Amino acid sequence: MNMKRMMLAAGSAILLWSAVSFASPIYLDVNAPLEQRVEDALSRMTRDEKIAIIHAQSKFCSPGVKRLGIPDVWATDGPHGIRPEVMWDEWEQAGWTNDSCVAFPALTCLAATWNPSLSAEYGNAIGEEARFRKKNILLGPGVNIYRTPLNGRNFEYMGEDPYLASRMVVPYIKGVQKNGVATCVKHFALNNHEINRHTTNVIIDDRTLHELYLPAFKAAVQEGGTWTIMAAYNLYKDQHLCHNQYMLNDILKKDWGFDGVVVSDWGGTHNTGEAVRNGLDLEFGSWTDGLSNGASNAYDNYYLANPYKELIDSGEVGTEELNDKARRVLRMIFRTSMGGHSGFGSLCSEEHYDVARRIGDEGIVLLKNNEGVLPVELEFNPRILVVGENAIKMMTVGGGSSSLKVQRELSPLDGIRKAVGSNGEVIYCRGYVGDVTGEYNGVVTGQDLSDSRSEDELIAEAIEEAGKADAVIFVGGLNKSAGQDCEDSDREGLELPYAQNRLIEALSKANKNLVVVNISGNAVAMPWCEKVPAILQGWYLGSEAGNSLADVIFGKVNPSGKLPFTFPVKLTDVAAHSGGKNYLGKKRDNLDIWDAEYSDGIFVGYRHHDTHGVRPLFPFGHGLSYTTFKYGRPSLSSGIMTAEDKIEVKVPVTNTGKRAGAETVQLYISDVKSSLKRPKKELKGFEKIYIQPGETVVATFSIDKSALSFYDPQKKEWVAEPGKFEVLIGSSSADIRSKAQFELIKEM
Ligand code: BGC
Repeated sequence: MNMKRMMLAAGSAILLWSAVSFASPIYLDVNAPLEQRVEDALSRMTRDEKIAIIHAQSKFCSPGVKRLGIPDVWATDGPHGIRPEVMWDEWEQAGWTNDSCVAFPALTCLAATWNPSLSAEYGNAIGEEARFRKKNILLGPGVNIYRTPLNGRNFEYMGEDPYLASRMVVPYIKGVQKNGVATCVKHFALNNHEINRHTTNVIIDDRTLHELYLPAFKAAVQEGGTWTIMAAYNLYKDQHLCHNQYMLNDILKKDWGFDGVVVSDWGGTHNTGEAVRNGLDLEFGSWTDGLSNGASNAYDNYYLANPYKELIDSGEVGTEELNDKARRVLRMIFRTSMGGHSGFGSLCSEEHYDVARRIGDEGIVLLKNNEGVLPVELEFNPRILVVGENAIKMMTVGGGSSSLKVQRELSPLDGIRKAVGSNGEVIYCRGYVGDVTGEYNGVVTGQDLSDSRSEDELIAEAIEEAGKADAVIFVGGLNKSAGQDCEDSDREGLELPYAQNRLIEALSKANKNLVVVNISGNAVAMPWCEKVPAILQGWYLGSEAGNSLADVIFGKVNPSGKLPFTFPVKLTDVAAHSGGKNYLGKKRDNLDIWDAEYSDGIFVGYRHHDTHGVRPLFPFGHGLSYTTFKYGRPSLSSGIMTAEDKIEVKVPVTNTGKRAGAETVQLYISDVKSSLKRPKKELKGFEKIYIQPGETVVATFSIDKSALSFYDPQKKEWVAEPGKFEVLIGSSSADIRSKAQFELIKEM
């Protein structure tokens, strides 16, 4: 070799050496294209490392790749605050003293604000809390459709309408993820009640699936860009949803192009072969006590752990699926903890409390207000009687996995006392005893709610005080105990528990200025509705519960919440329960499988009440204000639309009262004639506008083909049939203020 060639060879050897030793791997470069990072990391991983990153190593943690400096993945519930730390391998508390959080209002309340900007603020605030706690994945939000008021988990979801849920979930996701924390939108899909949640096989037609139960998830994926999604416990087409070919591979990954991680619900995985092939990417919670199936390390026995290796070794499956799963997990890591996000997040900041309070303020719904009983005036130093267990009970503990350990929580009673101050007198009577326990997974409220008095004694005391008061505020409803608004259980009926109906009836006789505040995530029966002048739907309001309620009760805030679901008069008025239907379905002979047929089809909530003429107690979209609004005539940019067009609708709304207020103007579409039966009307637009007294503000909507379409099960696509459509502008689904018509024409 001549001198020149020797030098060249030496030079390239040095170059090669320095590239190997000094150039940092692409996967560590936060500025490199995401897919290059993923491929680079993947190419450096052994098979066992890939297997390791696709299943848990503790309750909420799955491993990274230590050898490559890829950190572990930490998940947390969700969706209303950051869950306190539990032990590595048990559900009990880890005992940290720095893991208290802000509890934000439950998602039903968020949906009731009908304010997408507040949803973005919610997402950002909870995202900051998750970031501070160094989490990669926030297990939420939930968008399962509210099909029955018995579902114990409705409070964690966004109501009965797919359009509303879609519009509200997208900003939440973006708000969380801009903090470098992935949302895990749950529970995909058809998880609409809790009893038999592991063994219910949902039978549903394709049209209903696509029109009602999928749109919010689709929006979460395609518009929100969620980085992970949680597959549900139940079954569909006889296959568990955590490894469901049709739902995960065909719809989610192929049709919607989801490039993120499918996370199993905790303990929702049942079969290695299906989990490998049918789209599950990250397995959690399979043997959650850490004891069964392998005392020393249950995690090695997870379906996507050693049993997966055995399948590969036996040649039954290749490594194509493994690479795909590992790629997805890596992608999520490079989007979150290795995403180069600046900022450390923040926990329990005053800004977060402020967000929680404003969401509560805007989510509380004024259901009824006769003779202006609300707001309660403090001008004449009133004597105010507060009655009810929910006025004092901490509601942030309980309800299942969404249970929290809060830094602070202001009860309704304390909020009322604080707002009244020296401008009146506040007296409290218990009225009823509900559930006096206050513990979840070792988090205790520390409240002693025991009271040994009888129902008669409690009512008698409340009645006596009510007779002496200027106003009575009853705070009751449901709570987070099993059988009410609580995971893994459903309610037994629509009625309020603990003899509250009897108490409310008695209070209504004792004092004509009665305000009933219903705390719940579900509709309840109100047989006393006619006798009570003022009713507020108070939700679970989190840390700022007392402040938000007092803001509305005393008029600091003008209520503007609107119901995200229908309040039926009675349970059999709900389509899933009408005609003697059992929403739980039918148990299969000799098998622990419950076939739940969604025979109510697309007629859920107002779609049923409207179309079939069943009068609700309070309709979807309903919510009053302390001021009044007058709707003007809508104007359409055109009376003719082609499939490519958009029509703009403008509606002037005037505040005709004396107070500033906000009104959510709702746009429903009615298909005048269609080849398939359609609901009488469907929500396709809404705008929340803030209007000063005497002022007129114009709400503006844009309608395109998607607002006119239905899912054609034969064609397997969304279809807008040419013909006449009506635009219905309403203050609720039942209070339509004006109409206009246009025609969709076939293009030439
Ligand atoms: C719930 C999920 C939750 C998970 C982890 C499951 O039982 O269904 O919503 O995120 O537990 O706590």
